[in-house]
Amino acid sequence: MQTDITAARERFCTILRSTQIDNIDDIITYLDEVGFFAAPASVRNHFNFAGGLLLHSLNVYDVAMRLREDMIAMRPDCEPMLQPESIAIAALLHDVCKADIYRQVKRKQKNEIGIWEEIQTYDVDYSNFPAGHGEKSVMMLLRAGLDLEDDELLAIRWHMAPWDLATQSIEMDRSYRTAQKKTPLVGLIHAADSLAAQIIESDGFTLS
Ligand SMILES: [Fe+2]
Ligand SMILES: [Fe+2]
Repeated sequence: MQTDITAARERFCTILRSTQIDNIDDIITYLDEVGFFAAPASVRNHFNFAGGLLLHSLNVYDVAMRLREDMIAMRPDCEPMLQPESIAIAALLHDVCKADIYRQVKRKQKNEIGIWEEIQTYDVDYSNFPAGHGEKSVMMLLRAGLDLEDDELLAIRWHMAPWDLATQSIEMDRSYRTAQKKTPLVGLIHAADSLAAQIIESDGFTLS
């Protein structure tokens, strides 16, 4: 798949800067430092190549902005709770937690004609900051100095929705359901993330 990672990074930064957040360039510097722009989006599934996390984040943003239009058409009262700036922050930064978990490794793999060859791939290593997934993204962003609004924080925290709840407590379940009712941004970002990862990225296609 041919994708211009440099152009994607430029677009990502332009959208983030459009939020007019004072210290957004400090956040972009932080993303660089933690490896966000070079990371894959996964090891074996969607966008498992350098820059994949960046492309996935842009896809989530594009899907979320399209869903926003439809949501507002059906429920105009939702518009104040679905501000484009908040969608930019939540969609582009929901998976910051993945920036520090991938390590490049070499593996042996049989090619199409059955010959073993060495390939460059990724493995996961959670040891740098093993603090979860959505909640880890929130912690990292707050630590970096990003002043998240409540709805942005909740949308990032719960972007995995029920997939994050299976082994967790009743408090987690209730918190998630309450967050979902509190702001439509929670459901919107979860839907956009699922559609991007499960459908749009399943064959390497990107909307950007
Ligand atoms: Fe995620
Ligand atoms: Fe994601």
